[in-house]
Amino acid sequence: MSKGLRHLRRVSSQQLRAFEAAARLSSITRAAAELHITQPTVSVQLRELAEAIGEPLFEAAGRGVRLTETGKVLHETVVELGACWQRFDARMAEIHGLERGHLRIAAVTTAEYFVPDLIGPFAAAHPGVEIELAIENRDRVVARLEKNRDDLAVMMLAPPHLDLEQVPFLDNPLVVIAAAGHPFAGKRIALSRLKDERWLMRETGSGTRMAAEQHFQARRFVPNVAMNLGSNEALKHAAAAGLGLAVISRLSLPVDLPRGNGAVAILDVMGFPLRRRWSVVWRRDQAVSAAARRFVEYLRASQRTQLRARI
Ligand code: PGA
Repeated sequence: MSKGLRHLRRVSSQQLRAFEAAARLSSITRAAAELHITQPTVSVQLRELAEAIGEPLFEAAGRGVRLTETGKVLHETVVELGACWQRFDARMAEIHGLERGHLRIAAVTTAEYFVPDLIGPFAAAHPGVEIELAIENRDRVVARLEKNRDDLAVMMLAPPHLDLEQVPFLDNPLVVIAAAGHPFAGKRIALSRLKDERWLMRETGSGTRMAAEQHFQARRFVPNVAMNLGSNEALKHAAAAGLGLAVISRLSLPVDLPRGNGAVAILDVMGFPLRRRWSVVWRRDQAVSAAARRFVEYLRASQRTQLRARI
């Protein structure tokens, strides 16, 4: 056993608590009241502590007590000990949090093309963490954030009315698609030339739709909207069937989709792709669990590796 610990063996935690309170309050009576024990008990604890140390710790001062020089040094040590113990507690919470944690993530629908892939290795590395993933459109993810239903949310456009911590971790290029063989496929075209085309839009409440509308408005472009569709898959099928053009996340399309081949083609429209990013966000007014913190670190690390290869 180390010398320090052998010394500590003669000292009890009750004695140290009594000492800390008496030192802080400069009074044995008040220390006893704070600790809900009798004054003689505190006096006995302090006497035993002084005997273990081998020197007096307090001296009388008016109606109260004050620390001797040795008492001051012991007080500093006790304060330090308290801080050390707090750090130990925090580390323990972290370890247990990751062994038996729970992680609730809400992700927007465009993120469903990569979030499950990301969760896989994380779940394998932390088998005790139970993970729940909810996939919703932006409006519904915002509603979940308002109700504080999840630990983390993955989205492109964070709502400005909530006080959120935000870590961008992946590019989300938004492209224009059309049926393969569309007359504009393979040509560079200005957005204005697409005003007579039929447009397919995601439903109201979708972040993809919001990003497309913001871009169109900034360019004073009014799309001829033929249809609103409630999912990225429906959007792709409708575009492939020649029902119109659509703005969609590049990550929702096959990685090796060659322009002009396959069921849909990515049109080379000026101003596109729209350069947006996905972020992981969480409420600043809520404590972040150890599992959530670890997942954010993991996302930051992943950003630099395999995910970029998908775009
Ligand atoms: P959404 O996702 O279109 O499914 O809402 C986009 C986003 O907000 O990132």
